[in-house]
Amino acid sequence: MEKNVHDIVIVGAGLAGLRAAVTAAEISNKLDIAVISKHHPLRSHSVCAQGGTAAVMREKDSFDLHAFDTVKGADYLADQDAVEFFVRQAPKEIILTEHWGCPWSRTQEGKIDQRPFGGHSFPRACFAADMTGFHEMHAIYGKAITYGNVKFYDEWFATSLVVENNIAVGLTAIDMTAGGMHAFSAKAIIMATGGHERIYEFTTFSHTTTGDGMAMAYRAGAPLEDMEFVQFHPTGLVPSGVLITEGARGEGGYLINANGERFMKKYAPEKMELAPRDVVSRAEQTEILEGRGLEGPYGPYIALDLRHLGEEKINERLPLIRDVAIKLGGVDPVKEPIPIRPAAHYSMGGIKANIKSETSIAGLYAAGECSCISVHGANRLGTNSTAECLVFGAVAGEEAAKYALKNTLHEVPKEKLLAEEKRVFDGILGSEGSERVPAIRDEMRRIMNEKVWIYRKGDQLQAAMKEIRELKQRFKRIKVEDKGKFFNTGFLSALQLDFMLDLAEVTIASALPRAESRGAHSRVDYPKRDDQNWLKHTLAYCTKDGPRLEYVPVTITKWSPVARTY
Ligand code: FUM
Repeated sequence: MEKNVHDIVIVGAGLAGLRAAVTAAEISNKLDIAVISKHHPLRSHSVCAQGGTAAVMREKDSFDLHAFDTVKGADYLADQDAVEFFVRQAPKEIILTEHWGCPWSRTQEGKIDQRPFGGHSFPRACFAADMTGFHEMHAIYGKAITYGNVKFYDEWFATSLVVENNIAVGLTAIDMTAGGMHAFSAKAIIMATGGHERIYEFTTFSHTTTGDGMAMAYRAGAPLEDMEFVQFHPTGLVPSGVLITEGARGEGGYLINANGERFMKKYAPEKMELAPRDVVSRAEQTEILEGRGLEGPYGPYIALDLRHLGEEKINERLPLIRDVAIKLGGVDPVKEPIPIRPAAHYSMGGIKANIKSETSIAGLYAAGECSCISVHGANRLGTNSTAECLVFGAVAGEEAAKYALKNTLHEVPKEKLLAEEKRVFDGILGSEGSERVPAIRDEMRRIMNEKVWIYRKGDQLQAAMKEIRELKQRFKRIKVEDKGKFFNTGFLSALQLDFMLDLAEVTIASALPRAESRGAHSRVDYPKRDDQNWLKHTLAYCTKDGPRLEYVPVTITKWSPVARTY
């Protein structure tokens, strides 16, 4: 097996990964940095981020206000030390990306403009029309490729993390352009691979968000934290699920039911459409379940009405949304409401990491959506995600660089490499069973959509667990028809499904015992928040019998939990 040696290996080239690469490269030009990505960096899911990046940029706003909004939005499950650090760093990141060329939208006076977003008590979403992630990514990628010490491995698929004596020593990755597996040896490794929402059927996420880094870290011994908390975005376009930004409501859009009512007045009389996402998604789902959804060829839906904003404003602030609604929804929002319903959108959970983005494994760092530093607790506020990718991407780059500068390389044991090669090429690509990957994948997504959705119930979760475990057995009997080496997308799908099945199992295992409703985890059998018993983080560890759970306390600095109303 060919061997590639670097000081730092970053897995994932979205906002967090690229941001980490820039900081690490900046710290020392002696550091040899690799960025591994299963596609070209500018095809990372971060380019799909639309509405904005939260940061305190005005005197009337404050760090405490941003932190409190975030903690309240999180239903008090966020670690408040991490939140306080995060809000202080975010404005610096906006200015840096501005210097690197991000074309932030402007006010009349030429300042970086900010729009309102759900759960924020001040308009603090900096935005570049409705293509914020796209522009941020181009700015940071443009910066990252100026460093001579950053090497990109595009179209490489990482399959496993190698850990020896609780130290991350390397990883294995397949060069999809040539088909062979390589061993990577590194002093420090940063996971920045994004979320796992493709375990669901109806999702805003790209087909590539399959949680690979979460699964690799989990299998290698790092706990996954708070995986029961999956965010459902209120406005997934029907029928594709493509994101219709919350920025559309930030600009003044209404949500309407079949009776023509702005129903949010019943659920969040003060914030209305700009309540946090868990509140709005539950409201929509309730309207649909109680028969007040509009009827369409793809089932009941809710209408997002932007007509009153007028064509000029829609074209200036929401040009992508108009385009997407016309091309994928068949409606022009200038003339008609957009059909939407809640869609799986974000994982509050991920690889447990601390405020320095260190995981429980020495030399392994995690940043962005694949991590759980617990800034978002049980429910993330919109625009805090791109901000988190920038802030903790930079932290991970710095910490990994410091670690790599004072540590040496460790041997990557040959037997582990050979075992991984056998698992992947003989066990998955070479498997000659009768089960089809797309069939198992569709079944997993259906189960997650039907039984692990916005409203959850113990017996449904139990049933989902049983069914996902049956799928894991069936996966052992798959057949990948294409046995080719180059750009084998069937093989790639199988590898991704293998990861996703583990993550679906962890999501359900974490949701089952949490006998309360908090943030995005709504249990109809336990409808109340229970701070007495459940103000704690879930940790899921990988064992051969499935996830083993532990619990750790939440860090509270300033804000004790109180009732959450909007
Ligand atoms: O609605 C949106 O534009 C999404 C933003 C986010 O998830 O932060």
